[in-house]
Amino acid sequence: MSKFNIAEKLTTPIAIITDRGTVEWRNDAFDATFGADAKDWLKEAARAVGGERGWLQDFFVDPEEHRTIEVEIEGRTFRVEKIMNNDEYGSPAVALWFEDVTQQREMEQAKSDSTSMIVHDLRGPLSGIQGTLEFVLAQEGTKLDSMYADLLQEAQRESERMMSLINELLDFSKIESGNFVVEKEPVRVAGILKRAVRSLQQVASRDEVFLLSAHGRDVPQVIGSVEKLTQAVINLVSNSLKFTPKKGLISVGAQIVRNGDVPESIVITVTDSGAGIKSSELQQIWQKYKQSGTKSLRGGGGTGLGLYIVKQVVEAHGGEVSVASIEGIGTSMVLKLPVKRFGDTGNITAQRMTVS
Ligand SMILES: Nc1ncnc2c1ncn2[C@@H]1O[C@H](COP(=O)(O)OP(=O)(O)O)[C@@H](O)[C@H]1O
Ligand SMILES: [Mg+2]
Repeated sequence: MSKFNIAEKLTTPIAIITDRGTVEWRNDAFDATFGADAKDWLKEAARAVGGERGWLQDFFVDPEEHRTIEVEIEGRTFRVEKIMNNDEYGSPAVALWFEDVTQQREMEQAKSDSTSMIVHDLRGPLSGIQGTLEFVLAQEGTKLDSMYADLLQEAQRESERMMSLINELLDFSKIESGNFVVEKEPVRVAGILKRAVRSLQQVASRDEVFLLSAHGRDVPQVIGSVEKLTQAVINLVSNSLKFTPKKGLISVGAQIVRNGDVPESIVITVTDSGAGIKSSELQQIWQKYKQSGTKSLRGGGGTGLGLYIVKQVVEAHGGEVSVASIEGIGTSMVLKLPVKRFGDTGNITAQRMTVS
């Protein structure tokens, strides 16, 4: 009886495959599923031409690491998992388990497509409402009674909040379905800060909070998405606005971190003199739906998705997020982004980021 006798009987394809793409052992299910075709896609999966690596190589990078990846094989989606390393065949080999998740993924896709569609459709009528409110409010002073003006302003504020909730939900549903695409190009960090601050300046002055941005003269470029990065900074600033009292300060800044003379990364910080976050809650705020116990000064609970989305965006740029906070003193949110390096291509195509 071979040591693989249980594996032989399983209905899930299992095979021991070397880093060159040869099959050293396989069960019946592997033959039944892939048969002679296995040779073709394995060659593709193991290819290492011109520095381009096939997905099979992922299992050999760190033998200690337990890896699972999803791949398309012959039009179907398989969740491929390494179940063990094997060194009996003269060259590194791994035992892989191939779970067919095609149907599961198709159903998830259909579900999230319709969620995205519904959420997306909500934006249309809401922008209509916003446009109308803006128009009526522009008449203020001339024809509007001040009581009505206040009420309309309140309606405008609430519709802004609803718009950002809708946008968060839309991003979130895309992240969850792996359809959140970050288009990358060289972008000026200074421009991002300026845009983010400008879009919330009005809200800040209404709340009597000082909002300013400060950065050195030559902040280098990063490779990324202006839209997504600006949105991330806006997210941080609007969180700060929720927790910073009148006469408080929110400052948005960027610093270069150098290695010797070479700029290595750019650190964007959003610092406020607000309520702060309990140290016990500090790490979990980046998780989805997590909100800390600190009460917002200005009402309007959010979704708890904002920081989760910020983290995904920053990580899709090869960066990291962190936070420092002292209760009652303030909070500093930090986004660290790698600087565009010499030789990096400027116009990188859309990079699909998938969140596991
Ligand atoms: N600048 C800040 N000051 C104090 N608490 C904050 C700050 N930023 C975020 N938080 C806390 O982290 C939680 C998660 O933030 P976020 O993911 O943006 O969700 P939301 O804004 O929808 O509540 C917030 O609910 C809040 O409790
Ligand atoms: Mg938020």
